[in-house]
Amino acid sequence: MKPRHFISLLDLTGDEFRRLIGRAVELKNNRDPEYQPLKGQVLAMIFEKSSTRTRISFEAGMSHFGGSALFLSPRDTQLGRGEPLRDSAKVISSMVDGIMLRTNKHETVTTFAEHSSVPVINGLTDEQHPCQLLADMQTYFECRGDIRGKTVTWIGDGNNMCHSYIHASTVLDFNLNIASPVGYEPEPSIVNAAGDRIRFFTSALAAARDADLVVTDVWASMGQEEEQKLREIAFADYQVNASVMNAAKADALFMHCLPAHRGEEVTADVIDGAQSVIFPEAENRLHAQKALLEFLMCDK
Ligand code: CP
Ligand code: NVA
Repeated sequence: MKPRHFISLLDLTGDEFRRLIGRAVELKNNRDPEYQPLKGQVLAMIFEKSSTRTRISFEAGMSHFGGSALFLSPRDTQLGRGEPLRDSAKVISSMVDGIMLRTNKHETVTTFAEHSSVPVINGLTDEQHPCQLLADMQTYFECRGDIRGKTVTWIGDGNNMCHSYIHASTVLDFNLNIASPVGYEPEPSIVNAAGDRIRFFTSALAAARDADLVVTDVWASMGQEEEQKLREIAFADYQVNASVMNAAKADALFMHCLPAHRGEEVTADVIDGAQSVIFPEAENRLHAQKALLEFLMCDK
């Protein structure tokens, strides 16, 4: 039987997403060291790009559940020397119980999943970052209840995080306002599939009006470092600052997947202010992914 993968949020139904959030909250609030549903299981983690939160949360999560995680980089495996992805997927999946990948190309993860005999998890690609949305949505539900029908505002790059917010709006049924500079909008195919939940704005202030949640991300993602200077100019009017937060609802939350650049995409007073939930959001990577690992790997 084909294993269940987690490549995109669209792999989940709304019910499954809500159940994962509920389970993540349960695991967070009632940690039982005796509960080891993945005892003896191994998660291989392949990182083509850097990571703090993703690596630590998966590694700690596997360890809490009685299993272990292997950190693998293309630099010191045959992946970096051009071993075909399909061969690598077959070989690695014959030895471990799950595989998490963080890659440049999204197709690397989908190809791996096609040839893997165990669940494959997308730990970020240039196109999507679904694991981060599990944590973001857990955080919203914990602070404010169900997000159905609420308004979320995305300010900044139409990047992997923005794409996963678009997917989340479809699966969990919320409205998403997007303000991105011209030339940095999200992929039209991803936007079009989400229908009329998505609205575009040319001003950050207008996009934030009456929002329940304001979210942003770095102006230059991993792999775009050489575009930093150009992007600083293009994104200058797309900063989340006090005026933007004042346009949102009085009880609006602020989120950022981190790492953040204070003074660029967000001002220090906002990210370190009372409406910001960035640290619970980061911690929830652990709890949400434990719920995901249990969901994908427990009933193999
Ligand atoms: N937010 C996030 O994925 O962080 P890392 O790059 O540190 O894993
Ligand atoms: N958009 C960012 C997210 C980092 C977690 C990047 O891809 O670098």
